[in-house]
This record gives sequence, structure tokens and C-alpha cells, in this order.
Amino acid sequence: MQITLETKPYAGVETEALVTYAFEETDPIQGRLGEIDKLTGGLLGRLAKSGELTGKNLEITLVHAPAGLKAARLLVIGAGKRDSFNTGTLRKVAGAAFRYLKSRSVHNFVFLVRENEVTEKAAADVPQALAEGSLAADFESDKYKTDKKQDKSIKTVLVVGFDDAQKAAAEKALAKGRAIGEAQNFARDLVNEPSNKLTPKILAEKAEAMAKEAGLAVEILDEKKIAELKMGALLSVAQGSVEPPRVIVITYTPANAKPGGPVIGLVGKAVTFDTGGISIKPADGMEKMKYDMAGGATMIGIMRALAALKPNVKVICVVPATENMPGGKAQKPGDIQTAMSGKTIEVLNTDAEGRLILADGVHYAKQLGATHLVDAATLTGAIVVALANVNVGVFGTNQEWTDKLLASAKAAGEKMWQMPMDDEYREFIKGSFADIQNVGSGKGGGAITGAMFIREFAGDTPWIHLDIAGTAWNDDAKAWLAKGPTGVALRTLVHLVQSF
Ligand code: BES
Ligand code: ZN
Ligand code: ZN
Repeated sequence: MQITLETKPYAGVETEALVTYAFEETDPIQGRLGEIDKLTGGLLGRLAKSGELTGKNLEITLVHAPAGLKAARLLVIGAGKRDSFNTGTLRKVAGAAFRYLKSRSVHNFVFLVRENEVTEKAAADVPQALAEGSLAADFESDKYKTDKKQDKSIKTVLVVGFDDAQKAAAEKALAKGRAIGEAQNFARDLVNEPSNKLTPKILAEKAEAMAKEAGLAVEILDEKKIAELKMGALLSVAQGSVEPPRVIVITYTPANAKPGGPVIGLVGKAVTFDTGGISIKPADGMEKMKYDMAGGATMIGIMRALAALKPNVKVICVVPATENMPGGKAQKPGDIQTAMSGKTIEVLNTDAEGRLILADGVHYAKQLGATHLVDAATLTGAIVVALANVNVGVFGTNQEWTDKLLASAKAAGEKMWQMPMDDEYREFIKGSFADIQNVGSGKGGGAITGAMFIREFAGDTPWIHLDIAGTAWNDDAKAWLAKGPTGVALRTLVHLVQSF
């Protein structure tokens, strides 16, 4: 799918569909909708009067062969109230229009931005949101379907409505949105792969190929190197599987990097399948656990975006990858393991494996020089209880660093909610027979316990943990997004890196 931008007048553009949006207000036919109303001999006014065009969020009004326009169709989509409208709304509006037209075998359309967007400020981020929303909407999780409807695909989207004065800024924003949207779909593709098509080894190969193509430095640690480094926590999870583990390390270094400068460490959980191990999970819904590598996929996807966006800060991505299987050599409840840091861990539940592999991942990222850490993981069912599939759970030790992330989430239009990290919770993971234990002794607070465990390995380095268990997978298709992987947290973290 190609998304481009032009500043030519929209009325005369020949296209399969002209798309624009309406606000929910007393008279929704204003500004550019007023212009279209005039061109079409009062068509929009009549639709508004009959109640078919109200501007209500994601309402779709489609007119074929609108007289006075060169477009074969006119689609007006509701954008809700004007004062709550932002780039987040626009991303969904563009995505919903995209999927609506795609399902009706339209191949190209023109997206007209409203009169409010014709400013320098809007031109700097509206096209980015349009590219991100369109690319996200284009993703389907039908890779392995053999009866794919080939004719149902959008080939080109043309954004119009900006003036020549904003063209340069708008083009730049569009390119940025393209880089981020494509990276997000790259990550979603990885998450969508079933575990028989994506073992730790295959994930490492795919990450390596991407990094090489993008011009990023990459190193893949195999099981031998992992053992040499004494990553005992990661190895304890991997020992139950015949598939060997990998650690994927991708580095972005800016052209003007100063020695001793800050280094952002991005650590992602990549359990390519989580059976629970000996503490095995129930069969019902277990198939979803192929997505247990979403945190890792997000971090790999971010590196792809950074290679194109070239921020001014060095970023190291560390992704420990393994299966969690109940094989004959699997670890058993009560086993005591020694992490790379030297800390001993009593494994009370082999299904709490994400924190084990992150323990070594976080420690290794610090050893590689990370001064600021973020990890992302489908870590706990408890975060789904706390925040459902709406908010990402945010845990942090350094409020300044956490506030930066929350601001980036807001700017990127991703919902994130900070959770508590009081010292009292630390008691929950104190070990009886080892330094710490991998599940909490307290009642409840399961997502916090998981975060407290990882924190033991972050130490004093500013660190944020994102629990994306509830938000990395869309159980039901939305108007703007297919069912399946969401690529959550990628946009926020790219923003965080770029604003560092
Ligand atoms: N991958 C799961 C987290 C998960 C569970 C995601 C359910 C989505 C839905 C993780 O490895 C896990 O199994 N966590 C356990 C931890 C518990 C044993 C302390 C959980 O949340 O049940
Ligand atoms: Zn688990
Ligand atoms: Zn897991």
C-alpha cells in the first residue's frame, strides 16, 4: 500500500472514493463539508437533515456517484465532538474508513483533511497519524489462509487538503508515519506467526535479516554463548524444550554518538510459546500463547523504525527468546536457579517464566551499557484483571523517566496506566530457600509482583516495565484494526526515544 500527499484541489480529483470526516456539532456541514455541500447541490445538508450524517464517532455515510465531484464515491466518517478530536481520533477515523472501503473492493481513495488541519502545527503530525492509521488498518492476520480475496486490497491512498506552505512539513510527517506504521506491522507479523513457524531460532534469523537490511549492528547469542555468560534464569526456562534459546541483540548508534552518553536499553520478552512448563496451563485458550513473544517483537520492530528515523540517542535492544515447555529436562517447582547477576531464584511456578528470562535480559542490557531501561512483556494474567484490554500497565522506579514515557504514550495515542511499586510489595517475592521467588506470597497484586521481580535486576538504573498481556492481542476485530496482534507500545517507545 502506497500513501502519498498532494496539495492540488480535491474537487476535480478522479478517484474511487473521496473520504473526509464530520464533527458532531449542531450543524456538522461547515468548512470543507460546506464546500462539498455546495459542489454537490446541497447533498450533505439533506443527509444531515435526515439524520444520516451526524458526525457521531465512526458513523459511516457513503454516497455513490456524487454529482459535482469527480470521485466515484463520497465517504463521510464521523469524528465525534470537535473539542475532543485529536490525532488519536484521526488515526482511528482513517483506519475505519480504510477497512470499510477495503472490504468493498475499493483499491484507491483520496483522504481530505478538514480546514482545521491547514496549519503549520497540524501539518507536522496529522499526516503521520494518517499514515500510521492506514498502515495499521491494512494489516490482516490471514497469512496462512489459502482463499485470500486478492481483489480486496487498497493500493494507494492520497492525502489532500494541505496548502503548498505546509507541504514540506506534511511530507516529512507522512514519511515518519510510514516508517512507524511499517515497523508496527513488521512486529505484528512476527506476533501472528504460530510457534511451529516461529521458534527462537527462526525469530533470531528474522531479526538478524531485518537488522542487516536496515543497517543496524546485530549479534545473536546461541545456547553455547548463553551458557558461557551464565544466563541461568533464561536457561532454566529453555531446558524444558528441544528448541534452543537465543538472545537477540540489535544496536542503533547515532552518527554523532558521544562516548559516555546515555544509552536506552529496550528488553523484550520473547517466549515463542508458553505452555506454562511443568506448572502447565489449561488447554482452553492455550493456543493464544503464541503471542507470548509480543514484547520482543515490539522491541525488534522499534529498532527497524529507528534505523529509518535516526534519533540522536544510542539504543540497544536485548530480546531473550525461548519456548516454555514441559519436556523431560524441564525445571520443576521448587528448583533453585542462579541468574546471570548472581542472584538465586526459587522457581515456585514454572509458568512465571517471563520474569525469569527478563532477569537475565535486563542484567545483560545493563552490562552492555544501558543507562535507561524499558522492558515490554506479556507478563501476567493479573494485568488483564486490573486494566482489561484497554490500558498497558506501567511500572517504574524513577518517576522522571516514567513521566517521560507516559507523556510519549499520550502523544502516540496509546493508553497506558501507571501501577504502584510500594516497598511493601517487595516482601511478596522474598525467598524462603533462595534470594527471591518467582511468584508472590501475598494475596493478589500479581502484576505488581511480576514487576517487583524484574526490578531486582534493574537495580538503580532508571527502569520501566510495560505489562502488555492485555493489550498486545485484539480478541475481536475493531472497525480500524483486524483481530490479532496490535503492535502496542511501539509508537510510544519510538516517541520516547525520539524525544530523549
Ligand atoms: N504469558 C503469561 C501471561 C499471560 C497469562 C498472558 C494469561 C495472557 C493471559 C505468563 O507467562 C504467565 O503465565 N504468568 C502467570 C504468572 C503466575 C504463575 C504468577 C499468570 O499470569 O498466570
Ligand atoms: Zn507463563
Ligand atoms: Zn509467558
